[in-house]
Amino acid sequence: MIAAVLCLLLFSGRLAAAEKSFGGGGYSGLEAGGQQPETGGASEAALAGAAEQTTTPAAYSSGGDAAAASGGSAEASASSGGEAAAASGGGGGGGYGGKLDPDGDPEVGLNEKAIKEIVDEHNMFRAKENAGLPPLVWNETLAKWSQKYAETLKGNCQQIHSTSPYGENLMEGTPGLTWKITVDGWSEEKKNYHFDSDTCDAGKMCGHYKAVVWKTTTSVGCGRIKCNSGDTIIMCSYWPPGNYDGVKPY
Ligand SMILES: *[C@@H]1O[C@H](CO)[C@@H](O)[C@H](O)[C@H]1NC(C)=O
Repeated sequence: MIAAVLCLLLFSGRLAAAEKSFGGGGYSGLEAGGQQPETGGASEAALAGAAEQTTTPAAYSSGGDAAAASGGSAEASASSGGEAAAASGGGGGGGYGGKLDPDGDPEVGLNEKAIKEIVDEHNMFRAKENAGLPPLVWNETLAKWSQKYAETLKGNCQQIHSTSPYGENLMEGTPGLTWKITVDGWSEEKKNYHFDSDTCDAGKMCGHYKAVVWKTTTSVGCGRIKCNSGDTIIMCSYWPPGNYDGVKPY
């Protein structure tokens, strides 16, 4: 609860996430949107309205750090390209657009700092499970794929899943979105998840969380784009994929 309140204070933008699950070899799209109106106090009605297809709307309580607070409008000016000199291929062909988010990470593509934050944040949540989950390593193949695919969403800025064989989490948000807010938003779905019965609370999502803590997943690679609208789409792919319907994450 405290976390949720903090989140509203720290990130006043809008967030929506989409997860992908696998059933019997096929891909069953599972998407949902969540919103946090700028004034705070996400309404369930707004959430439902944002959901697509068969979905389960979810409210996002996203964590963020102090830096995010100042960054509701993330027009952080690009301080020289120093940090930006993109990691060897981290951003696939995406490259770095020149601006930084409130955490000082590129708004387009990735650099070494961003990669470390993404991997560390995933592994922090995996370790917290106390379930012997192996830490994830960065996977350049997945990162290149994620960047390349995310670029195709630039025009409509919709969370439309790829048909890759990889696990996949998407996040869309207004300026000010950071990697930490994104990975925390996915991981904090844990509160909606009931391990014993392997179920989510009605109308809530927990598939992103399951992807983050899936035991047999060993690597992650992500991409990040700025849509033509100015919003951001973040995509992480996972290998080996998890989120098989009816299977517990660990
Ligand atoms: C990265 O992902 C690719 C694509 O699935 C896979 O073939 C490769 O083994 C992975 N590498 C690591 C280090 O996990």
